[in-house]
Order: sequence, then C-alpha cells, then structure tokens
Amino acid sequence: MIIVSRGFSLYFFLLWTFLLVLVVYFYTLLPENEVNGTPVFEERKFISSNFAVSKQLGNNIFELASILGISRVLHRTPVIFLQNSTYQYMLNRVIQSIPGLLEEFLVLNETVPDQVVWVDFNRKCCTFENPQKLKNWKLQENEIIYLTGLYYQSFKYFPNMRSELRGFLETSEKFPTLPKSDNKNYVTCVHIRRSDFFDVGFHVGSEKSIREVIGYIKTNVTLLQDQKVSFVIFGDDINFMRSLIQNQVNYYLSENSDSEDLAYAKKNCDAVFISSAHSTFGWWMGYLSKGNQVYYADIRGTNDSVYKTGDLKPDDYYLPHWIPVKVEADIFV
Ligand SMILES: *[C@@H]1O[C@H](CO)[C@@H](O)[C@H](O)[C@H]1NC(C)=O
Ligand SMILES: *[C@@H]1O[C@H](CO)[C@@H](O)[C@H](O)[C@H]1NC(C)=O
Ligand SMILES: *[C@@H]1O[C@H](CO)[C@@H](O)[C@H](O)[C@H]1NC(C)=O
Ligand SMILES: *[C@@H]1O[C@H](CO)[C@@H](O)[C@H](O)[C@H]1NC(C)=O
Repeated sequence: MIIVSRGFSLYFFLLWTFLLVLVVYFYTLLPENEVNGTPVFEERKFISSNFAVSKQLGNNIFELASILGISRVLHRTPVIFLQNSTYQYMLNRVIQSIPGLLEEFLVLNETVPDQVVWVDFNRKCCTFENPQKLKNWKLQENEIIYLTGLYYQSFKYFPNMRSELRGFLETSEKFPTLPKSDNKNYVTCVHIRRSDFFDVGFHVGSEKSIREVIGYIKTNVTLLQDQKVSFVIFGDDINFMRSLIQNQVNYYLSENSDSEDLAYAKKNCDAVFISSAHSTFGWWMGYLSKGNQVYYADIRGTNDSVYKTGDLKPDDYYLPHWIPVKVEADIFV
C-alpha cells in the first residue's frame, strides 16, 4: 500500500511540475502574441474622435461603442476630451443609462492637445469603414490618434460585443405599470420617433403602417404554450402613442425616461419594432433587448433623406438577422 501511494505521489509531483513549467512557458509568450509586434507602446497610445455631443442618447452610445471597438482593433486606450460643457452633458446622459460603457474610457478634462494626429475617418454617418486601415505603421507611431468622423453608426465597429454592452447597462426592476416578460407574456416593444424627424426628412412610420406591422408581428413571433403577446409603446410623441393604444387589449404605454426604457428593453422586450427606420434610440432598444428579435421599417422603401444621399448603408446599419418590414404610404415631409 505505502509503496503504491508513494509511486502515485511521485507521479503527481512530476505531473504538477510539468504543468507548472507549461503554464510559465505560455505566460512568457503571452504579451508577444497579444499585440502583434507593437508590445511596448500599447498601453501608452490613445485614440479619440469627434463626438456629436449635442445629439441624443442613441447617437452618443453609437459613437462610444464604436470608438471602444476601434480602440481594441488598434490596441489603444480610448479617450474623451471634455472640451466644453456640452461634452459634460453628453457624459451625464450616458452615465445614467449605460454607465459601464464610460468606464472603458479615459476621460480628460481638457481640450484636444496639439500633438494629436488628426485622421479623416468615417466621414459618412452610417457606413462602415474598416479600422484595420488605421493600423499602418506610420500612423501607429503617433501617441494620440484623433479621428475626424462623427456618428459611427454601424454594428460592424463593435462586433461580438453585444453581451458586453448589455452588461454595461443600468439595471432596474421597477416598472410597475408595464408587463413583465415571462412564460405567460411575450412582450413586443414598439418604438415611435416623430417630432424632430419631420424637420430633417427622416422616415417616420405612419399610424396605418405601424398598425399593419403590429398585426404582422403577432403572426410572426414564436410563442410558448399559454403565452400571449402584449405590446408596449415607447417614444417621443405621447398623443400619437395614445392613439395607437386606444381600445386595444394588452397594449401599454411607457412614460419612463430613456435610461429606464433601455433597462426595460434589456429585461423584458422579447421583440422590438423600430417604426422610424433611422431612429438610433430604437436601434439600441432592439440591439440590447432581451429577445434579440428585431423588426425594422425597411428604409429601402422610404424617402429617408440620409438613405437617399447614400450615407446609410443598410447592410452596415442593420444586423443581418433583423427582419425588415415593408412600409408603404408613409409620411414624408
Ligand atoms: C462644444 O463643442 C462642440 C463641438 O466639439 C459643439 O458642437 C458644441 O456646441 C460646443 N458647446 C459649447 C457650449 O460651446
Ligand atoms: C472641468 O474643468 C472645468 C473648468 O476648468 C470645471 O468647471 C469642470 O467642473 C471640470 N469637470 C470635471 C468633470 O472635472
Ligand atoms: C417571421 O418572418 C421571417 C422573415 O420574413 C421568416 O423568415 C420567419 O419564417 C417568420 N416566422 C414565422 C413564425 O412566421
Ligand atoms: C417618395 O417620393 C416620391 C417622389 O416624391 C413619391 O412618389 C413616393 O410616393 C415617395 N415614397 C414614399 C414611400 O413616401
């Protein structure tokens, strides 16, 4: 017995030693592997960009998520220069909704320093430009790259980051007036955007087409046994939203803040319908939603001003598994 167990001890001793050597060996290899031959400067190099700070939350999140994604491609630390009070307002807005996202950034309370190198990148709001092109050797020498672009509205800037971005969201459980997604309730969230979209010629869903799409979604979603569909209407035009709900059973209205709406979507939206094709807030409700089942007004059938100029490429803007729904006879001003 004793001899046998000694034999085993020796065996395990050798095994552990071997494993330890292996771990140490791979550990020493790691830094080189990780950074592709630019190891020394990685942490001390930075990337920043213009930000459309006076725009609303959906735009803000797009820019920050994309710059974060780009910074990882380039192995640089993402930086925000708080250039004036509008930047501070933008930060406050984002912190309320998705605080974890800002924790990924270095925030400097100063104007853009002289030694940055300005680089033209992402000149169109909603088409993807591959950040790999910023990896050229000359550019990589610079300590701070400052991109001149704005908006960065393409999911391709932050591939495979959905669960991380969802994790950055503020979470909240208190939505007393709205339905909870569960085995009995399939929650479909309908996002309405109107007000300022009329002024800029963005597509706006009409009441008739929104009702049609709601009817279509009812037939298209896959329900559990005993599950019924409820609809929650979100948006910026309370009278219009009320008119959609009139006389309907299982319809609800959200009068919560933007950050609460995103927290609700993460927990409860089994499906999301983006009724105004280019609403970035609607986009984020869909992207961050519980069910990841997203319907959107197909911008290809509209006269949306951004789509018409070619600045929005649908394949870069909408995720491939999202379902476009044809909208006809829509309002266009
Ligand atoms: C801050 O700078 C941005 C551009 O970088 C500009 O759009 C905004 O109006 C400025 N805000 C103030 C208060 O000057
Ligand atoms: C940034 O600096 C300005 C003036 O120098 C100051 O008023 C403001 O509070 C600072 N902001 C932060 C977040 O520290
Ligand atoms: C829902 O619509 C999509 C896209 O048109 C289609 O592929 C899918 O089969 C539909 N599902 C159901 C249950 O009708
Ligand atoms: C787009 O504009 C054209 C020309 O003004 C018009 O004929 C068409 O009906 C419009 N389409 C939609 C979906 O509003």
